[in-house]
Amino acid sequence: MINFIDFKNQRFHYLWLRDNCPCSDCRHPSGQRIHETWQLDANINVESYQVTDTGLQVKWAAPHQHLSNFTEQYLLENSYDRGRSTTQSIENWGSELTGQLPCFDYEEVIGKEEVKAQWLEAVNKYGLSLLKNVPTKPGTILQVVQLFGYVRNTNYGELFEVISVEQAVNLAFPPLPLSLHTDNPYRNPVPTLQLLHCLEKAQRGGVTALTDGFRAAQILREQNPEAFKLLASQAVTFRFSSEDAILEHSACMIETDARGEISAIRVNNRSLAPLNLPFDLMQSYYLAYQELMSIIQGSNCKVTLTLDKGDLILFDNQRILHGREVQAEGPRHLQGCYADRDGLRSTAALLKKQNSTTVPVVASS
Ligand code: OGA
Ligand code: ZN
Ligand code: ZN
Repeated sequence: MINFIDFKNQRFHYLWLRDNCPCSDCRHPSGQRIHETWQLDANINVESYQVTDTGLQVKWAAPHQHLSNFTEQYLLENSYDRGRSTTQSIENWGSELTGQLPCFDYEEVIGKEEVKAQWLEAVNKYGLSLLKNVPTKPGTILQVVQLFGYVRNTNYGELFEVISVEQAVNLAFPPLPLSLHTDNPYRNPVPTLQLLHCLEKAQRGGVTALTDGFRAAQILREQNPEAFKLLASQAVTFRFSSEDAILEHSACMIETDARGEISAIRVNNRSLAPLNLPFDLMQSYYLAYQELMSIIQGSNCKVTLTLDKGDLILFDNQRILHGREVQAEGPRHLQGCYADRDGLRSTAALLKKQNSTTVPVVASS
């Protein structure tokens, strides 16, 4: 029995069509589904259908007294017959981006919606974006988050200080180098975005290193598939404890999605707990981890830059690794904070919709 309709060379199952009927009995004006999909008749039949000027009209067979009208645009946008398309267009990068990281001016971002949209789109595409000339009043980072989303509060507070002075005595952050890492892998859910704002630049040193973890994992996948498989299938534990928090989470250093695409990176040498893997895997796991780290730290992948006073980097904490390369000399002060990708993507999508519906102003001669 045929259970689909061919529309413009794309096949749509009866059940799919019935489920996606856009009529006002089936869909709320918000677009939300009214009927319960699990209660639809799996053997539903079509009495007749016709291709109309605007799309497709389906008359459902008794006992289902229902008429569904689909626009051509809706069907083609949602078609699934030729493989699913990815909506997210991301671009992996390596050290060729040195000196060319996506970069925007703070005043322009707050003054022009289209620049703000580009600033956020860069985070979706490259995983990071640099803002110049952000006022260096402490706490400004919280206002930057409000431009696109919400602060992710943690036991470190709404924002955290990364301060170093020469000959640090009892300050929490000595100015030592930090190998490339993602923040807070001991947290579940992990903060998906991080911001770092430079309020004071070290006289020398304190260089920021950045690597696209998706590129690094892809290189590992190509040069040593077995090592990739280990890191993507064996969970390890990350741990942090202080007087006011005990945090622990176990997961893979490389995550892949249902289609096998690299979807998240979780690397932090400082907070990696003693490995607890099957005996027979331990040695190979160590080698795989070392290989991944040497790709991450390697000159093909890594971009280094020195943040100037007023610079702010915003990056995807499940994709981009950050670190501090050279011991900072002289006072240095960054403020950091966490946020989440859902807010950013929503704001970017709203701006896109808004910009595409605004009629361009034509200059009169
Ligand atoms: C950190 C960190 C970066 C820096 O504290 O986790 O990544 O440049 N700091 O100091
Ligand atoms: Zn309907
Ligand atoms: Zn960090």
